[in-house]
Amino acid sequence: MPVLAERMSRAKPSAIMMIAEQAKQLKREGRDIISFSVGVPNFLPANHVYQAAKDALEQDSGLYLPGRGEDVLIDAYLQRLEANGFTGYAKKNVASGIGAKHVLYTLLYALLNEGDEILIPAPFWTTYQDIADLLDANSKQLKCSSEQNYKLTAEQLEQAITPASKVFLFNNPSNPTGMVYSEAEVKALGDVLEKHDIWVISDDIYNRMIFDKMGFHHLLKTNPNLRDRMIMIDSISKSYGMPGWRVGMMAAPEKIASAMVTLNSNSITNIPGVVGAAAAAAIAGPQDFADEMCVEFSKKRDEVMATMSKINGITCPKPQGAFYAFPDISAIFGKKHQGVIIENDMVFCEQLLKNKGIAVVPGSAFGEPKAIRISYACKPAELTEGLKRLEAFFSELEV
Ligand SMILES: Cc1ncc(COP(=O)(O)O)c(C=O)c1O
Repeated sequence: MPVLAERMSRAKPSAIMMIAEQAKQLKREGRDIISFSVGVPNFLPANHVYQAAKDALEQDSGLYLPGRGEDVLIDAYLQRLEANGFTGYAKKNVASGIGAKHVLYTLLYALLNEGDEILIPAPFWTTYQDIADLLDANSKQLKCSSEQNYKLTAEQLEQAITPASKVFLFNNPSNPTGMVYSEAEVKALGDVLEKHDIWVISDDIYNRMIFDKMGFHHLLKTNPNLRDRMIMIDSISKSYGMPGWRVGMMAAPEKIASAMVTLNSNSITNIPGVVGAAAAAAIAGPQDFADEMCVEFSKKRDEVMATMSKINGITCPKPQGAFYAFPDISAIFGKKHQGVIIENDMVFCEQLLKNKGIAVVPGSAFGEPKAIRISYACKPAELTEGLKRLEAFFSELEV
């Protein structure tokens, strides 16, 4: 039989999607499963978004559309950038794709040759590493432990950058840790980046989900000199409750946006018109629900943290954004649950799913095998029940 391309030996399915699928399958088999796995916000898009999709359907031409995105979407995004204080961007600077995941994939394809170095603070969103592996890039993980609240320091970044470094990938607020960088922390990183000629990708998709009045601080605001190397990523998935609609956006120097448009013309051609119209309506429409959503998520965060603080053997830096908690559970490695030794995060997750019907993602998928990721954007009753079961699991551990 003919063989697959060599790169497929480096390709692996998304760990998060696999666990989410496993949880769904168990549910279909009648098991009582609560999924804290995939990062899906627990709300639907606003009515005006559906209306825009319906209107677009009525006017559908059935034709191919511009690979950058239709003007209505590009304009909405440009206005949102402007409203958020990112001025001076024009159509030539932006492009859209099938979700931020596809935008990142295409972007890294455009930036990285085989063996080029990409710096990724760890813990990281699994897909960063997956894409880097597929492209055979040389990824350097910058380890940020729970003791440093999973945040990268300027000293670490300074030490990691070498003349071989081509791309720095920054994600704030962070998936999987929920950490949010303060203005001073962002500025300190920006000051280091200013000294080195590397591309900076800022994955900002959780920028509206910030609690405790922390504020969203962007490298481009603290260090405007980074502008000609800065690539900003956004998505409608989390902020507008539209993960399945699949629209991601990018704002960057013209050369980068053009590369994305060229690659779109070789791959997806365009994002579907109905989807683009719905995304435009979400981005251009009222944004006040974001505040309501944040209140809701921060209450859930408090509930998660209340449970974490009760459990012996867990250290969990307090998340201040997104909807994830990333407890370090390494203190219980070596203990037994119903006769099974919890050797590592993988065994922990298997046992938790098997015995308590709770799906969480092992930290090793995010580059930190001491931890697990809890996505707490589920229904309130599920969260309460799931946390109760998690606590029970820990109380059943034996030496
Ligand atoms: C940090 C981060 N970036 C990008 C994405 C991808 O978002 P999208 O649904 O737009 O592909 C995710 C999704 O979970 C994410 O957590």
